Amino acid sequence: MPMVKTIEWLPDKVRIIDQIRLPTEKVFIDCYNHGDIARIIREMNIRGAPAIGVAAAMGIALAAKASAKTDYQEFLAEIEEISDCLAATRPTAVNLFWALDKMKQYILDNQAKPIAEIKKGLIALAVQIHDEDIKACQAMGRHGAELLPDETFILTHCNAGALATAGYGTALGVIRAAHELGKIKMVYVDETRPYLQGSRLTAWEMTEENIPATLITDNMAGFFMSKDVINAVVVGADRIAANGDVANKIGTYMVAVLAKRHRIPFYVAAPLSTIDLTKANGGEIPIEERNQREVSHVKDIQLAPDNVGIANPAFDITPSELITAIITEKGAVFPPFTKNLARIVNE
Ligand code: MRU
Repeated sequence: MPMVKTIEWLPDKVRIIDQIRLPTEKVFIDCYNHGDIARIIREMNIRGAPAIGVAAAMGIALAAKASAKTDYQEFLAEIEEISDCLAATRPTAVNLFWALDKMKQYILDNQAKPIAEIKKGLIALAVQIHDEDIKACQAMGRHGAELLPDETFILTHCNAGALATAGYGTALGVIRAAHELGKIKMVYVDETRPYLQGSRLTAWEMTEENIPATLITDNMAGFFMSKDVINAVVVGADRIAANGDVANKIGTYMVAVLAKRHRIPFYVAAPLSTIDLTKANGGEIPIEERNQREVSHVKDIQLAPDNVGIANPAFDITPSELITAIITEKGAVFPPFTKNLARIVNE
């Protein structure tokens, strides 16, 4: 079955599937300018680290296409301002900044070219970032599947699937590739409160492709691990520090502690664009605090009393000592992470 297109460059617009309306409605949103792109990232119609990187690159491509500037310096200044606006949408996933930097670097490297050529080049680069992300996910899938046992009962948290990337997925890419090898007996899907990426998106992706899946609430993971029914965990990442600490969806840390307690391998699947060697450890990674209403309500149903204090950090940090391996498109990285991550990024 062909996978859903998360994001697509079309001649005069960018089309995304609206992840807020899934799984009950399959609705697409067309974006015509960078403001539309900033809005869909901020409001999480598109989410997931690699997917928001691709969206930001396409936002720059839309802005470049629409620019009326004929002077190089003025064009650069306009794009820099738009880049700052896109960078301000969400703080944790480094892929967003990585993609914006790549787009800006292209303009700097091609100063000698006419602006019309630079515009074409930026569109081609945004499409290339999209296409290469799918290839990276497929490679991660192959490398990760090799690590899993012949009979895999795997737990995943949040959605690190086709919807969180340009396609195929990071953690779900590993699961997809292992499923193609006949290894997947069951995928345990954490529902992932408060935004429910697990129950709304991961469970949907699994059912779309007939991959056996069991949805559980987040507080059931320990129970199933203690019953010896889970023999691997795989999650994605929003940013990986130089020492291997991983920022990922809130609740990932809790799962990693439980996996360690039960001696279950804990894998993180992420492209090299998620590794941020400028951050020495997870403590330096900014953690997004989101709207309290995501905790107090599910859609319009209120779950908590008025005026109760609410916290809503969207991500947590899993210390590297809890991680068995980080699976990248170039292969799996094992401890010591500081040495081995630097090597794989720079080779
Ligand atoms: O807040 P979200 O839904 O953007 O958070 C997404 C995650 O935490 C994913 O696990 C992560 O981005 C990896 S996606 C391949």
